[in-house]
Amino acid sequence: MERMPTGIANLDKKISGGYPKGKGILITGVPGAGKTIFGLHFLHKSCMDGKKCIMIATEETPEDLLEQAAMLGLGLDSFIEKGLLKIKPVIEFRTRSIARDAHLVDDYSDNEIDIIEETGLDRYIKPDQEGFNLEEIDLIDLVRLIPEGTEVAVIDNIGVLAFGLGAKEFRDKFDTINRLLAKQATTMLYIMDEAAYEMTHKIADYSTYGSVKLMVKENPYTGKNERFLSIPKMRSTKISLDITVFDITSAGISLKGSKAKIVEL
Ligand SMILES: Nc1ncnc2c1ncn2[C@@H]1O[C@H](COP(=O)(O)OP(=O)(O)O)[C@@H](O)[C@H]1O
Ligand SMILES: [Mg+2]
Repeated sequence: MERMPTGIANLDKKISGGYPKGKGILITGVPGAGKTIFGLHFLHKSCMDGKKCIMIATEETPEDLLEQAAMLGLGLDSFIEKGLLKIKPVIEFRTRSIARDAHLVDDYSDNEIDIIEETGLDRYIKPDQEGFNLEEIDLIDLVRLIPEGTEVAVIDNIGVLAFGLGAKEFRDKFDTINRLLAKQATTMLYIMDEAAYEMTHKIADYSTYGSVKLMVKENPYTGKNERFLSIPKMRSTKISLDITVFDITSAGISLKGSKAKIVEL
């Protein structure tokens, strides 16, 4: 199986060279655990390797993401200029539709119009007292934002589109997305916040090819909070179930030892 390097030194070694190519990997964790930074590493590395990438930003603005990436030495601006990377601002779409309903904004921004056209959301247009109204963006519409030919896509955070869905509806839609994107051979990183992950009964793990869990916990041996990661699942890959300690530094994510080694020390 071909691999896609994660962009995180030492993580590749743990998963036979990288994320399985053309498959979907789920990244979960509490706020601040490092999920977005995981995504930025993968995008940066993939763009460096000349891959066509998309990031779907549902909870942060592209500007904030680009600033965070640059601060970690993972600058993405040049890849956007070259057309290798596109960031789709679903956050803007979500918030402007609320603001429009509340008469805080009244027009559609260019970014919104792009998303409406790409997702075909105008098929849902329905008349109401004020004129016309659009449905909200649905989980399944994400597929249309990731066109064929996209080699890498990071969705940060898919949980935003999972609220309100029952476990079965979420599972069916998520399986559908996964199958369609696997068919077009896009390597996917699905970032999902812990709240949506729990609300959907942690069912997302079953749909994806692999799962990486990021945690912030007290290390009982030092009494200090530390960042941990575990990889409970990676199909077609030999994995260790050890929990690995990592740090976030000015160069991004840096893996330290496994917890087993720390205990030995
Ligand atoms: N240069 C840095 N040095 C140390 N920690 C950093 C640096 N940049 C960001 N961080 C840490 O990374 C965390 C954010 O990671 P992020 O990937 O955005 O989390 P998540 O997406 O899981 O909520 C922040 O809480 C911050 O503490
Ligand atoms: Mg994040």
